[in-house]
Amino acid sequence: MNHKIVIFTIIIMTLALIGLMGIQIYWINNASSVKEANFRRSVNEAMTHVVAKIERMEKKKALQVNQFEGMLNFNRHLPYNNFITSGNIDSLISVELNIRGIDTKYEFGIYKVQNQNFLLEKSSNYQNELVEKGYAFPLFSSDIYTTPEYLLIYFPQERQFLLTELWGMLLISIILIIAIVYSFSYIITTIFRQKKLSEMKNDFINNMTHEFKTPIATISLACEALNDKDVRKSEADSSNYIGIIEEENKRLALMAEKILQSAVIDKGQLKMKKEKLDFHEIITDVIKNLKIQVEIKDGVILKDLRATQPVIEGDKVHLTNLVNNLLDNANKYTPRRPVIRITTENTDDGIELSIEDNGIGISKNEQKKIYDKLYRVPSGNIQDVRGFGLGLSYVKAIVEEHKGRISVESEINKGSKFKVFLPFRQGI
Ligand SMILES: Nc1ncnc2c1ncn2[C@@H]1O[C@H](COP(=O)(O)OP(=O)(O)OP(=O)(O)O)[C@@H](O)[C@H]1O
Ligand SMILES: [Mg+2]
Repeated sequence: MNHKIVIFTIIIMTLALIGLMGIQIYWINNASSVKEANFRRSVNEAMTHVVAKIERMEKKKALQVNQFEGMLNFNRHLPYNNFITSGNIDSLISVELNIRGIDTKYEFGIYKVQNQNFLLEKSSNYQNELVEKGYAFPLFSSDIYTTPEYLLIYFPQERQFLLTELWGMLLISIILIIAIVYSFSYIITTIFRQKKLSEMKNDFINNMTHEFKTPIATISLACEALNDKDVRKSEADSSNYIGIIEEENKRLALMAEKILQSAVIDKGQLKMKKEKLDFHEIITDVIKNLKIQVEIKDGVILKDLRATQPVIEGDKVHLTNLVNNLLDNANKYTPRRPVIRITTENTDDGIELSIEDNGIGISKNEQKKIYDKLYRVPSGNIQDVRGFGLGLSYVKAIVEEHKGRISVESEINKGSKFKVFLPFRQGI
């Protein structure tokens, strides 16, 4: 996929996501305003009823009193404690609020504005809040002989109460947004991973073509030479060319085997033929084969096989390939005068192989990726060191098949040290 299209799609998706989140926040905000308005209306309704009931109770009581005491306080309402207690008002308010579904803590009081004092109250804990933030409802407003008195009500947890009502909606929105963000980021990482993979596959095909081309060209030249009558006449010449063909053919077979092997690992069909074997023997064999290549570069392989118990249980062919891959890397990625140190040591339950070189090294960041299939550190190509990026992924699979461990210590331009631990036995 085109890089620009990917970036464009990501921008569009991000904008759409931000827009969607904005709309969501707007709606929740709206819903919260509606809830608040509803709450106010319900409180208003409830308290109007309460005020009416208080006034009715006063009237009733006033009538009784007046029958006995005459019409002394004709137009003035009775003192509150004559006809009502704070407990009475509390239950009136509680009933009215409950009917309207308001189930949260409240405080109330009857406040006389002129004296700035409370004539009646539930508790005296919230006096300031009642005056400053409470809802106020005039009592006995038709009583022209008394200065204004208000029934004040205050909800200490009003915010929380309104929020709890919105909680469900908020939760669903948050879950949906998280789901969208998660899927979105998953898709983006997948796109980038696929892009990277397709680049790696391209590199692989380029490398493979190049690697195969050289032996094919050599073989075809050798065949041409063999077709020459003069060459055929000379026994030495023809056997020389046949030798070349054989060598190059072996190389081709090895490469094909490597690629096939990695496909087998992918399908999880790696077959192991485990037997008791001497790990030192394997190492010595591999060194013998690679020695010439190292010496061509004026290098040396230093062997320090210190393990006293080198016999382990494993697959001979795969373990040979494992050592071969590590040693091949150590040589390949050391451009000048390789000094490759191969050491073995015994631990309590197995053997540890370490292969150290003085090559180009691997940065910390890359060290995590080198075991990935087809992965090659980008500078590897620049230096024109060819490879498929399959070696270490194969090595890792083999180590795991033997229940072992692999690790690397490396510093750029100083060298790398690969350590492989293999247990004596892998259990059942
Ligand atoms: N000893 C080393 N020193 C520096 N870099 C290394 C070393 N060993 C591996 N690497 C880096 O790790 C990468 C992966 O190694 P791996 O052996 O899997 O692939 P390769 O050598 O490129 O190809 P091949 O499949 O032919 O082995 C290499 O391309 C190289 O960049
Ligand atoms: Mg390699």
